[in-house]
Amino acid sequence: MIVLGVLISGRGSNLMAIVRAIEEDRLDARVAVVVSNRADAAGLAFAREKGIDAVWVDRAAFDSQAAYENEILGALQSRGVQWVVLAGYMRILGPTLLAAYPDHIVNIHPSLLPAFKGLDVPRRVLESGVSEAGCTVHLVDETLDGGRILAQARVPVLAGDTEASLSARILVEEHRLYPQVLQELSGL
Ligand code: GRF
Repeated sequence: MIVLGVLISGRGSNLMAIVRAIEEDRLDARVAVVVSNRADAAGLAFAREKGIDAVWVDRAAFDSQAAYENEILGALQSRGVQWVVLAGYMRILGPTLLAAYPDHIVNIHPSLLPAFKGLDVPRRVLESGVSEAGCTVHLVDETLDGGRILAQARVPVLAGDTEASLSARILVEEHRLYPQVLQELSGL
C-alpha cells in the first residue's frame, strides 16, 4: 500500500479515477490528502465528499515560492505521503518539493511526450495534422513536462475531431493509465 498526496488545480477527473481504482481494488493505495492551489477546484469538493483531507494552499498568501511549497510539504509530510501525484496541477514545481520527494513525484500530461509539452495541447495537436495523440505519465523534475517517461497510451486523431472530442478520447486513456502506473509504483 502506498500513501499518495494528490495536487490539483481544477476539475479533478484524474483524482476521481484514482479514488475509483482504489475503491475497486485495482490500486493498492490510500489518498492521504488532496492539495489545491485554487479554492474553487471541483476536485477539492469531491475529496471532501469522500472524506479525504482536502487543503487549499493559496500562493498569494506567501512571500515566495519556497514558503508556498513548504506549506504544501507540511500538508504532505504530516500525513506520511510517499508519492506526490500531480493531477491537473497548473503550477511548475520548485526545488522545495522536488528536493523533498526525489523521483517520487509523478505527473500526467495529455500528449505523447516529448511532443507537445506545455498548455493547449489538443488545439496544437489538431493544428499540426499528426494522426496520433495520447497521454504520458512521467516523473517530475525541474524541466517542464520533461522528466523520465513511465508509460504512455495512444489514441488516433480522427477526421472531424474537435478539441473537445480529442480531449475526451485522451482523457479516457488518462483515467485508465494513471491508476495502472501508480499500481506498478506501489509494487516497487
Ligand atoms: C489532464 O488533461 C491532465 O493530463 C493535465 O491536466 C488535465 C487535468 O484534468 N495535466 P483533471 O483535473 O484531472 O480532470
